[in-house]
Amino acid sequence: MLNKLLLLLIASFLLAKNSWFITNLEYGKMLYNNPRGISCAKCHGIKGKGKTVTHYIKNGKKIYIKAPNIQDIDLNRLKKALFHKYKPKNPIMPVYNYLTDEEIEAILLYLRSKK
Ligand code: HEC
Repeated sequence: MLNKLLLLLIASFLLAKNSWFITNLEYGKMLYNNPRGISCAKCHGIKGKGKTVTHYIKNGKKIYIKAPNIQDIDLNRLKKALFHKYKPKNPIMPVYNYLTDEEIEAILLYLRSKK
């Protein structure tokens, strides 16, 4: 009886943990694609692998502006990029300083899942 109860307890704990994970993953995916601003996917690609955003011609040479691969980013760097707390070489990425910690962590979770 006690064993069964314990098993039930463990099972429901695992289930709850699992659904936490799935919910936050979905949340992160949603935010990555629609962060109440321009979609991250537009520049960094749907999986965060990065891509060429645009190019321009300078002295007859094509200069490419690329959004980097961000699948391996850590929380600190992600926050810095979103809040523009560093000097970007190509400052075309919008500021997303209205995202909450929870939202940023969900985005990170999504990016990690795409590796
Ligand atoms: C208009 C295009 C564009 C959009 C939209 C955009 N980014 Fe970026 N992002 C860039 C570019 C370009 C860089 C590189 C900046 C530089 O030159 O340093 C960058 C840099 C970053 C970096 C820093 C990478 C590093 O190595 O430090 C992170 C993290 C990042 N972006 C995440 C995001 C997330 C998350 C979103 C959505 C909320 C987003 N970006 C939306 C273009 C974009």
